[in-house]
Amino acid sequence: MLIRRPADVLPSEITPHGMYLRRRELLKAAGLLGLGLASGVGGNAVLAAEGPAAAAGGAARKLSGVRKSAFSTSEKANTFKEVAGYNNYYEFGTEKTDPAEYAQKLKTRPWTVVIEGEVKKPRTVGIEDLLKLQLEERIYRMRCVEAWSMVIPWVGFEFNQLAKLVEPTSKAKFVEFVTALQPETMPGVRLPVLDWPYVEGLRIDEAMHPLTLMAVGLYDQVLPNQNGAPLRLVVPWKYGFKSAKSIVRIRFVEQQPKVAWEKAAPQEYGFYSNVNPNVDHPRWSQRREKRLPAFFANYETKLFNGYDQVASLYTGMDLKKFY
Ligand code: MTE
Repeated sequence: MLIRRPADVLPSEITPHGMYLRRRELLKAAGLLGLGLASGVGGNAVLAAEGPAAAAGGAARKLSGVRKSAFSTSEKANTFKEVAGYNNYYEFGTEKTDPAEYAQKLKTRPWTVVIEGEVKKPRTVGIEDLLKLQLEERIYRMRCVEAWSMVIPWVGFEFNQLAKLVEPTSKAKFVEFVTALQPETMPGVRLPVLDWPYVEGLRIDEAMHPLTLMAVGLYDQVLPNQNGAPLRLVVPWKYGFKSAKSIVRIRFVEQQPKVAWEKAAPQEYGFYSNVNPNVDHPRWSQRREKRLPAFFANYETKLFNGYDQVASLYTGMDLKKFY
């Protein structure tokens, strides 16, 4: 767990997306206090002796056939514990430690992903088949909209490999990612924090860029539930919330989809959400970031999180308007 003294945590960081939840009151209203959600029943599985992946849904599985990638940064990676212990996954609660504590109940098998829309060969694929695609370790810098960052060794395959399976048509201008809605395992969805299920989207050229990864693992193990098991998006030049977790449906569409945080707070979160030190969040600056576990903003944020190879996707676009 990352240590942060409450006095140093801005309200904007606790409720990163502009929604101040009076958590206990809301939980009480939703009848969840007695279920152990607020009282911490479940323990911090990330610290369990059997190992983090074992705790994350009993899936202590090493991924094999993983090759290294030239796209990896050589910066020092955060530890497994840091990456798995400090998350946003609002279906399991709005505090950073909630996902590690409550996402263990997420049911990740059987798991299928429906791929549909503007494609020649729509299909439903089982996660086991997706695990057979060429897996790579991608050590990416990840920048959260809340002005902190981590370096994370994801394991996954390029989104464009998945697109090849279904052959998008020329009408496919955007891709929509719909995530799991399991009310029986997700106590957070009883509260109207977001319009569930969590939906994210990319423009088709962003999705097809070789940096866009569908992650199935963290370090050399299957993804912990709290990090979005069994399949999540990773887009390293965009703020972390674009990385939809536990994806069940991928739609190739003609119109730009309405995405979760844009719907919830459009004045604060746009569709593009590219990391950009020149475009402040309405309530805080994006110029600098804390590279966790550092306590102070010790890094200057770079445009596109330093992934300059995506700059050409936005030639001629006003990134202040399309934030
Ligand atoms: N996906 C779903 N389904 N639900 C969520 O609440 N939170 C997003 C994103 N994906 C979220 C989600 C946010 S706000 C962030 S910052 C990242 O997941 C954090 O994921 P990570 O810490 O595992 O990288």
